[in-house]
This record gives sequence, structure tokens and C-alpha cells, in this order.
Amino acid sequence: MLFRGWGESVDGAWPDVATVVDHVGVRHLVVTRHALVRRLLTDPATFRPDNALDAVTPLPVAALRVLAGHRFRLPPTLANNATASHPEIRGIVAGALHPDRVAAQQPWLTGLVRRRVARLAAALDAGAPVDLYADLAADLPLLVLARLVELPDAPVTAVKDFAQAALELFWAPLDEPRQLALAAEVGRFHTVLRAFAADGGGLAARLRAAGHSPDVVVGALFFLLVAGQETTSQFLTLLLHRLTAEPAVRAGLRTGAVEVADVVEEGLRLEPPIVTWRRVAAVDTSLGGTAVPAGTSIVAWLARAGRDPEVVAAPDGFVPGQRGSRRHLAFGAGPHRCVGAQLARMEAAVVVAEAAPLLDGVTVVRPPWCPDNLTFRMPDAFVIRRA
Ligand code: HEM
Repeated sequence: MLFRGWGESVDGAWPDVATVVDHVGVRHLVVTRHALVRRLLTDPATFRPDNALDAVTPLPVAALRVLAGHRFRLPPTLANNATASHPEIRGIVAGALHPDRVAAQQPWLTGLVRRRVARLAAALDAGAPVDLYADLAADLPLLVLARLVELPDAPVTAVKDFAQAALELFWAPLDEPRQLALAAEVGRFHTVLRAFAADGGGLAARLRAAGHSPDVVVGALFFLLVAGQETTSQFLTLLLHRLTAEPAVRAGLRTGAVEVADVVEEGLRLEPPIVTWRRVAAVDTSLGGTAVPAGTSIVAWLARAGRDPEVVAAPDGFVPGQRGSRRHLAFGAGPHRCVGAQLARMEAAVVVAEAAPLLDGVTVVRPPWCPDNLTFRMPDAFVIRRA
């Protein structure tokens, strides 16, 4: 399950806490129940976030050299920061993503999505296949994020390539040649970020003005560029794919009987783009009756927690608005809970409202395929055509 925490594995029978040994022999405790995952995420004194960005396949010396050549460093800034600097850095990032600022982007995003959907509808009408990942979802979150936090002026493809390389380098099972290639990609972009962190405006300037070191500015931008856009484009793709198999939900959206926001929540619950998130035990403790020695890697299985029958009335059904639907842990919980949740929800609501009608009467030519990864789904394509 460790590298495919969705699909069949997420539906299987699991104990509340399972020990799983990974591809390099490291033992992880996988936590499968909603209440335990919540406890894990909301108690940072016992379960620290320090390992959030650790490479699950240890980096060989040669790859570390490549990264060092680019002066690559990821000091604790956001997700992996349990130090006293976290609240202030998080506060500055949260300011850039304030709900009012997010809401102000909605009309612009709606216009953009509407124009794209019109083009895609025309292509479908003409009998052509359409890739809802490449042609709709892939770059939308990055375009919005760039407007919100003023990102480096790099081409969209360069940022996407870097972010996907980072998700693979830190969260996938890999061999050494692949690690070297990915380290080169990640390192190259890190150099771009370092230059931007030194004199860029927006969020970078605010972090500098608050006295944070160049490493912290780079670390925050690095995480935002990865977590703040790949996750959402993955989610949009997975949700649209799911909705092709939910004609009753689409009919409800058409008539107004089903709320867009409820569809987004049920999507997050059943198709989270981040299927697991890690913590490390700070002290000897226990979880669900299982002894947890200090230093143990703990994997919070967010995708599974969303299907806990203790919390949701119909765990496996896509039932917008059902009891427990909004209690998913797709955005984590506690002091490190996702600061981009509001933004991701807004983007998904716009896409569902505008693009769900495209799915009527189509067949799936190519469902999303997701590579092995501990945490991220990373769908590669989603192609439909009119039946
Ligand atoms: C559907 C899309 C998204 C999902 C499922 C998601 C999920 C998550 C999860 C599971 C965490 C870890 C929470 C924890 O440790 O308890 C996290 C943290 C974070 N996310 Fe998101 N995220 C999404 C979109 C975004 C967006 C759009 C942004 C910003 C533009 C963003 C920025 C962050 C940041 C900065 C953190 C670290 C917060 C901290 O440590 O204080 N995320 N996210």
C-alpha cells in the first residue's frame, strides 16, 4: 500500500495501525483511522512534522553532490517546521492567501475556465478527444498562485517540470540514475528561486522584510510552488474523472439540487491528491494500543481516514452533503493544516461549476494513471471524447 495509497488498497481491510516496511527496509507505522490520524496531526509535541519533506528513498552521495552544487537547502520553514519560527512564517504566507484575496481571484478564474471550457466543448462536438488534465487543469492553480504571491517570472512548463521532479525525488521509490536526473532538475530550479528570493516582490519581499534569511525565503517558495499548485491540479483532474462516473451528481448540479461546494468536499474526501502525510514520534508513546518508540516514522493515511465509517454515513459512496462529508482530513489538521485550503476549494468550485457539463455523454478514452508515490497522486492525463 505504501506507494499506492489509493484505489484497491484504500478499500482493503486494515488494522487501525499497521507496520509496513518500505522498499529500503525502513519501518513505518501506517495509521488508518480518522480519530487516530487527527490525534497524530494535532499533537505536534508528541508527533513532530520534522520528516515531512524527507526523501523516502535516501539520496545517494552523488545526488546530494548535485544538489549541493546548486546550494540546495530545505531548512524548516512550513510543513517541516516545528521550531518557534513557524507561526510567523505561516502567518505571512496565510496573509498572501487570505480568503478576501482568494475571493478576489474568482471572477478572473471563472472567465479563464469558461473560455477554455467553450473551446473544449467545441472540440468534443467536432468528435475530437480532449485531455482535461493538459488542456484544463494542469496550469490553472499555478496561474492563480502567481497572481496571489508574485512568483518568479519562469515559464509554466519550467515550474511544472520542477515541481513534479520534486514530488518524485522526495516521495517516490527510485533508483540512483533517476535520482541523479531529478536532483539536477530540482537543483536547477532552486537556483532560479534563490535569485528570486534575493530581490523578488510579493511574498518573497514580505518574508525578507520580516527578517527571514534567504534560505527561509527559498524554502517557503519551494514548498508553495510544489504544494500550492501541483496538489490542486491533481485534485481537479481526479475530481473530474470521478464525476464522469457519477451521472446522478452531475444531474443534481444541473438542476441545482446538489451544491457545488458539497461536490468539492466529497471529492476531497474520496479523491484526495495527497493520500498520506508523515510525522515522526518525538517521544516513546502509543497509538491505538500500538507502542510507538521515539523516532518512528508515522504515515497518516489521509485517504483512508476520509472513508472511516465512524465518521461518514456512506464511506464509499459519492454523496455530496452527506453526514461527515466535510470531516475529511485531506488538508491535514492542527498547527500545520493546509493554509491553501480556501484557495484550493475556490479553484475546484469554479472548475466543477464550469466544466462538469462537459462530462455529459462522454466516454473515457484514457483514465488518469498515477505513478508509485508515497504521498502524491500525480495523474498524467485524462482523455475523454463524445460517445
Ligand atoms: C487540493 C489541494 C490541496 C491539498 C489536498 C493540500 C493538502 C495539504 C496537507 C495534507 C498539508 C499538511 C497538513 C498537516 O501537516 O497537517 C498541507 C500543508 C500545506 N499546504 Fe496544502 N493542500 C492543497 C493545496 C494547497 C494550496 C493551493 C496551497 C497554497 C497556495 C497550499 C499550501 C500549503 C502550505 C503552505 C502548507 C504547510 C502549512 C504549515 O506547515 O503550516 N496547499 N496541504
